[in-house]
Amino acid sequence: MTWYSFDRIASHYDATRKLDPHATQGLLAFLAKRVAPRPDERALELGIGTGRIALPFASYGYSVVGVDISREMLARLRGHLAERPDLPIQSVRADAAHLPFRDGSFAMVYWVHVLHLVPRWRQALDEALRVTRPGGTLLDLNTAGGRDSTDLSVRYRAIATRKGYPQPRIGVRRRQTILANLERRGCRVERIRTSWPWRATTTVAKVLRDLDRRTYATLNYVPPGVHAAIMAELRGWTRRTYGPRPPPLAVAGRIRVQIVTRPALRLSARARGAGARRPHDRRPSPR
Ligand SMILES: C[S@@+](CC[C@H](N)C(=O)[O-])C[C@H]1O[C@@H](n2cnc3c(N)ncnc32)[C@H](O)[C@@H]1O
Repeated sequence: MTWYSFDRIASHYDATRKLDPHATQGLLAFLAKRVAPRPDERALELGIGTGRIALPFASYGYSVVGVDISREMLARLRGHLAERPDLPIQSVRADAAHLPFRDGSFAMVYWVHVLHLVPRWRQALDEALRVTRPGGTLLDLNTAGGRDSTDLSVRYRAIATRKGYPQPRIGVRRRQTILANLERRGCRVERIRTSWPWRATTTVAKVLRDLDRRTYATLNYVPPGVHAAIMAELRGWTRRTYGPRPPPLAVAGRIRVQIVTRPALRLSARARGAGARRPHDRRPSPR
């Protein structure tokens, strides 16, 4: 298990990552005009997790297949699907860099907060392009701050860095890098200006508790003793800043999407990516 595995945090995930229903409906209505779901076509989600995104997509009419590397996240997803057996969602445990699907299997492939966690993210893009049908769509989605974080997690990282523990890089850092990579392979990238804002409130106590329970996979690189020292410093800072009765904290974000169209013609060898291992070709097993 990698240090940033979501297996450790799966039990807290849904309580700490929200998706605003109104903003989500706005996104889905926008997408339906561009890439309308068709019952005979499937969409693939890379890193489906507990289904935070796939559940509303499937409720809207998309037939979703999701891959994830984490057994525990997929177990949570199965729990949600047991309550919504009507939803057309299948899940397969797989690495996004080695997809177990035939070429051109999906009309649409999308990902949300995943490629920063994939060391071989270029290979994951090779694979995403390979399994998207010619002329099909890829979506880079971002729910920006879709978790109960405030500047406290930024402060956590800053203290960790000062103590000699800068956050290690895992996958790709910037979405622009992903889009530029896809453009170089001959894809058409539409940078969508519309976005769907959302607001929520949280409390200092909840954010501190989530940080203390190490709910954020990318912060799990900090050794336990250093983590305890960082938390003590953070608690002191919140007491000095907010006093004994901190007010509710406002959290705001936006759902954003970039729409990428795979070339209708065959991908050139360069566009397919040099040296990517051919994945084992099998059909996804039902959930
Ligand atoms: C931040 S969560 C996002 C989950 C979901 N997309 C959402 O927005 O709620 C990242 C997910 O990516 C999965 N993941 C990380 N590396 C992966 C890989 N190489 N292949 C497939 N899934 C991966 C994690 O297990 C986790 O479920």
